[in-house]
Amino acid sequence: MTDPVIKPIELVINRSRVTATVEPRSSLADFLRDQQMLCGTNLGCEQGVCGACTLMVDGVPTRSCITSAISCAGSEVQSIEGFDHDAVMNELRAAFTAEHALQCGYCTPGMLVTARDVVIRLPEADDARVRLELSGNLCRCTGYVGIVRAIRRVLDARRAVQVVPLDTAVRLELSASEQAWK
Ligand code: FES
Ligand code: FES
Repeated sequence: MTDPVIKPIELVINRSRVTATVEPRSSLADFLRDQQMLCGTNLGCEQGVCGACTLMVDGVPTRSCITSAISCAGSEVQSIEGFDHDAVMNELRAAFTAEHALQCGYCTPGMLVTARDVVIRLPEADDARVRLELSGNLCRCTGYVGIVRAIRRVLDARRAVQVVPLDTAVRLELSASEQAWK
């Protein structure tokens, strides 16, 4: 049997420059989990349907199970581990806890990444719009009532104190507290 072709790759993961080698067929999810030891990204369907593997590539929510790692050369990848000091993500985590928006937690990393994008991109979103935006993220055990309530809680709190909506062109930019931390 011949050795698989290995390709060099350089990219930014959670704000750190990474140089590695990958097989061209490796998915971004497998690359992160198996080679970078970033196991916060969960895999469910592995065919782009369930949304469990959602993370950010160049500021856009992306299915990492159907994205090849090699195609991310030169890109900026942000997995759930990269949001520890992100203001919006911290608000969402607190709201998910308060609204009992998870049970087994398997869908939660992908759900949080999508939710953060909704909060930043759609500050005026109502329940119907939040539900529409979540249509690509499946939760098999909690149901969506708590998840929608959690996202609305963050949106409403931000509106109440008139947080200026972030420019959607800079979705990957760090939110307020993270900039201070950095
Ligand atoms: Fe990627 Fe389901 S595991 S969409
Ligand atoms: Fe279990 Fe969503 S919390 S799948």
